[in-house]
Amino acid sequence: MRIRLSKSIILDLMSPQVLADGFRAWVAGESGSGKSSAAMLFASQIVEQDGQVIVLDAHGEYERLWEVKPGAVVKLGYGSKPVDESSVEFCMELVRQGKSVLIDLSHWTDLEPPKLDAFVLDFIRELYKLRRECPRQTFLIVEESQNFMPQQQESGQAQNIKVFLGIMTGGRKYGLNFILCSQQQSLVDVRAIRSCNVRVFLRISDEGDWKKVRAYMPENLSIGFKAGEKRNDITKFKSGEAVLVCRWIGEDKRVQLALPEVTPRQPLIEAMKEVH
Ligand SMILES: Nc1ncnc2c1ncn2[C@@H]1O[C@H](COP(=O)(O)OP(=O)(O)OP(=O)(O)O)[C@@H](O)[C@H]1O
Ligand SMILES: [Mg+2]
Repeated sequence: MRIRLSKSIILDLMSPQVLADGFRAWVAGESGSGKSSAAMLFASQIVEQDGQVIVLDAHGEYERLWEVKPGAVVKLGYGSKPVDESSVEFCMELVRQGKSVLIDLSHWTDLEPPKLDAFVLDFIRELYKLRRECPRQTFLIVEESQNFMPQQQESGQAQNIKVFLGIMTGGRKYGLNFILCSQQQSLVDVRAIRSCNVRVFLRISDEGDWKKVRAYMPENLSIGFKAGEKRNDITKFKSGEAVLVCRWIGEDKRVQLALPEVTPRQPLIEAMKEVH
């Protein structure tokens, strides 16, 4: 299963090395930098090649992924009946059938974090159990991953993080792969970030976030806040421009990610277009 990331970079997700290590990507960047588009770039090519993708879609943006292969993708929510706490079994049945499943969680994301946490925790536990019994390459996209793996833990969250980290590291043996997106690097648990073997750094202009992210970049990359390097500074990257750190593709590189054919839908912008 070959994924085109840019004009010149193709990553084979089924190469022996990737299969042995498991695929765990961390996609970091500020709002509008292209995180969801980067995740969509992976997702659309995986679905095209009959792979299985599951999206925990915090903002209800991935609906168009369905268009890539309508028979193989099921979307839950997105204006139809939203998932609720009792939907885990239904979602799992679709996963068992081999479908790619887009789960719109936007009705809970900002307003009801406890329900969101409970659903996600229950779902990933069931997913892990299924893949342990029945291994298959599955790619789980987690938007706003700081919600589930926060660095600063509120009471009760420690258990969620433990489960998530365990599943992230243990899941590779059973085909569970991850793409984590977050615009707030400084809020994500460092253990989750460290466990990722693919790192995509998009535009980051907040100095606090940049300092945090810098620690995960190679020393010799000539980008950053240093004087004299402003022209090709990560703080000014265009959308989709990124530093890619991944030993499977060799040297760390600055790249322009290929824009996916289906881009994430931005509900507010689209709704505003309809009004005007
Ligand atoms: N490879 C690319 N080349 C050019 N433009 C791109 C590329 N990827 C994304 N874009 C554009 O960048 C904009 C923002 O993309 P996206 O929604 O993926 O950002 P985001 O980082 O997920 O933002 P948010 O944190 O708000 O969810 C979109 O208008 C998209 O069309
Ligand atoms: Mg996004």
